[in-house]
Amino acid sequence: MKQFNKEIATELKAEQSQVFPYWKGRVGLYALLKAMEIGKGDEVIIPAFTCVVVPNAIIYLGAKPVYVDVDKETFNTTLDKIREKTTDKTKCILIQNTFGLATEVEEIIAFAKSKNIPTIEDCTHGFGGTYNGQPNGTFADASFFSTQWNKPFSTGVGGFVYLKNTAYLAKLNEINKDLVSPSSKEKFILSVLIKSRKLLLNPFTYWTLLKLYRFLSKTGLVVGSSTKEEIEGIEMPKGYFKGFSTVQAKAGIKNLKSLHQTLLLRKSNSKKYSEFLKSEGKTFVTQSLEENHSFLKYPILVKDREKFKTLAEKSSINLGDWFVSMIHPIEKNLELWHLDSDEFPIARGISEKILNLDTDTKTIDKVLNFLAQHKEEIL
Ligand SMILES: Cc1ncc(COP(=O)(O)O)c(C=O)c1O
Repeated sequence: MKQFNKEIATELKAEQSQVFPYWKGRVGLYALLKAMEIGKGDEVIIPAFTCVVVPNAIIYLGAKPVYVDVDKETFNTTLDKIREKTTDKTKCILIQNTFGLATEVEEIIAFAKSKNIPTIEDCTHGFGGTYNGQPNGTFADASFFSTQWNKPFSTGVGGFVYLKNTAYLAKLNEINKDLVSPSSKEKFILSVLIKSRKLLLNPFTYWTLLKLYRFLSKTGLVVGSSTKEEIEGIEMPKGYFKGFSTVQAKAGIKNLKSLHQTLLLRKSNSKKYSEFLKSEGKTFVTQSLEENHSFLKYPILVKDREKFKTLAEKSSINLGDWFVSMIHPIEKNLELWHLDSDEFPIARGISEKILNLDTDTKTIDKVLNFLAQHKEEIL
């Protein structure tokens, strides 16, 4: 595990003692919020376009997630919108680099500093990428990352924290003493999944395996992205505060080796998507955003999502359905998570139309042909 931390620290140009791995990225967020002493009555600002595990971590501590609408071009929050939602109760501002794009990071942090509010970067999509030439996740007081299946590099499930502001170091170390170890069963299942994924997953098996994995995750039969409790309610699940394992560290060290090569592929494929979408008058990621984008996924907007997914499945094209709801994957009872979707028309509109293209594909021409064939379906 030391080796894993060391390699992450090198990548972030940081000290190893400031890197903390966890069973999942969300656990790292929870630990950070706790180290920042966020609790009852406090408010934490987050985007209205995220994963439900983000508001969950806040709610588990008795605090309240306060949502901010996103910008229609970047899918990220802006300083102006954050400022409007900042109150005396705001005790943390979270900045997310959605799909790998970091925007207005320095401006938001400067504003937060002026108000004495700590900041956390949600870099679950952005590891390895840069913002204005510096590694993502090295701007705010702290950042957390995910190394779950489809993230910049994978440990199966997993994640880590980089704590830049050492004022929280002692507290975080103290909190981490309560981490439980993953069970032998969990480690065994995870190692089988890591091995079989490599052997079995390809464009022809993608849709069948995705459906199977999601079904098994829901039933709790495999180690999944989210447990049933996390998506059905707001109670902290038993065993949530879980530490990292050697199974994850081993996979991570191996997969880290191709990180930069994959990042280059992601950027070059995404350029091709942009060129195509632009030439067809569709929504695309503008060139001015490319430098700060590591393109973990390439977002597209479609007229009829279910129809488009069926077409992709028929043509053996992988498609991601990340953030098809504002607090993915929750579609009902949003008020449980303090979210009123009417308040956030942009995030809601995007979440109703979004799908995501793979950017690490080695068969980009096949995907481009598919897009050209079904361009009437793209917005
Ligand atoms: C924006 C965002 N934040 C946080 C997370 C949580 O990461 P993890 O699954 O490692 O807990 C995810 C998961 O994909 C995410 O998309």
